[in-house]
Parts: sequence; structure tokens; C-alpha cells
Amino acid sequence: MTQFITGDTKSLRKYMTAIVNMQPWIETPEERNAWIQRATSMNSKVILAVDDRHRLIGSFLFYPSINDDWIREHADDFPFDVEKAFTITLVWVHESQRGKGLGKQLFEKAHEMAKEQGLNVRVGYGAATQDIWSFTKAYSNPTIVDGLEYGGQHIQYTLIK
Ligand SMILES: CC(C)(COP(=O)(O)OP(=O)(O)OC[C@H]1O[C@@H](n2cnc3c(N)ncnc32)[C@H](O)[C@@H]1OP(=O)(O)O)[C@@H](O)C(=O)NCCC(=O)NCCS
Repeated sequence: MTQFITGDTKSLRKYMTAIVNMQPWIETPEERNAWIQRATSMNSKVILAVDDRHRLIGSFLFYPSINDDWIREHADDFPFDVEKAFTITLVWVHESQRGKGLGKQLFEKAHEMAKEQGLNVRVGYGAATQDIWSFTKAYSNPTIVDGLEYGGQHIQYTLIK
């Protein structure tokens, strides 16, 4: 049976290497370390799914978007209070487990935890793959922030009820 474990990057430190190892677009050990440090410095919350043999089968992280220097510098360009925003990152479900609703469960748990922290706008930017854009679009109709780009990509947001 799938179990969910939640915490932060410090309490779940032993899983962080596995989480970044699972991301095919993070290629080198230096990049992996940088991503762990980034996730930690953003004060990210971590939601993990493990199977009955304690193998990691899914991970979602989110952080208050304001913890990103770039977002803070551009705070006035957003049509909402960025203090209320969160960003989901390092999304992954094991290939053998995809299409069974696990991504949806992790996504919903991330939203619940974000709401408990008073965060109610999901901001997507700088995604490493198209998968996450199409996945989040399956749930919402995100709005593009006019005139603001990050790494050549639009920034999008969704108000969470
Ligand atoms: C995206 C991902 C997390 C989805 O996980 P999953 O467990 O297969 O998703 P689910 O089975 O919970 O799917 C839930 C819903 O989303 C839809 N969906 C899943 N993946 C989708 C995708 N890539 N594009 C569009 N819709 C998608 C499903 O059809 C399903 O819809 P339904 O509720 O109407 O049936 C998984 O495919 C994955 O790990 N992809 C690689 C991750 C990645 O690229 N990460 C980049 C770093 S952010």
C-alpha cells in the first residue's frame, strides 16, 4: 500500500538525493547538489510516496514563491500578492506507477499543505519539462502573467479555492 510522508528538506534529508536522482533533466552531481541546496534555501515542503517496501515512488515539493529572489524582485509585476503564492517543483512519479492517480494525490496534498500555510495562488515558472505544464493544465486553466517571462517561458498562475 502506498504511504505518504511529509516534511521539509531537513527532516527528509535522507530522501533528497533520491528525489533529485529521479529527475532525468538534472544530469550531474553538481547540479543535483545545487538543486538540493536550492530546495532547502527556499524552505520547501516535501511530499513523498513510498511503497510497502519503503521504495520511493513519487515526490512533489513546493515552496513559498516569495522565497525565490527573482519572484521577490518582480513582485510588483504580478497581479496578486506574491506573499500568498507557492510553486510546485521536483515533481516525479515512478514510471511503473504513472496513470494510476498517484500524481493527482501528491498534487492535492501539496495544495492542502500550501493552503495550511496561507498560500492560495499556484505559480508555475521555469519548468524543466513540458510534462508538468500539461499535467497542471489537466486540473486548471492557468492565467498567463502578461509581459513577464522567466527563462524565455511564460509565467502562469492559478488561484486555489
Ligand atoms: C506528471 C506526472 C507527475 C503525472 O503523474 P501520474 O501519477 O501519472 O498522474 P495521475 O495518474 O495522477 O494523473 C492524474 C490526471 O492527470 C492527467 N495527466 C497525467 N499526466 C499528464 C500529462 N503529462 N499531461 C496531461 N495530463 C496528464 C491524467 O490523465 C489524469 O487525468 P484524470 O484525472 O482526468 O484521469 C508523471 O507523469 C511524471 O512524473 N512525469 C515526469 C515528471 C517531470 O517531468 N518532472 C519535471 C520536474 S517539475
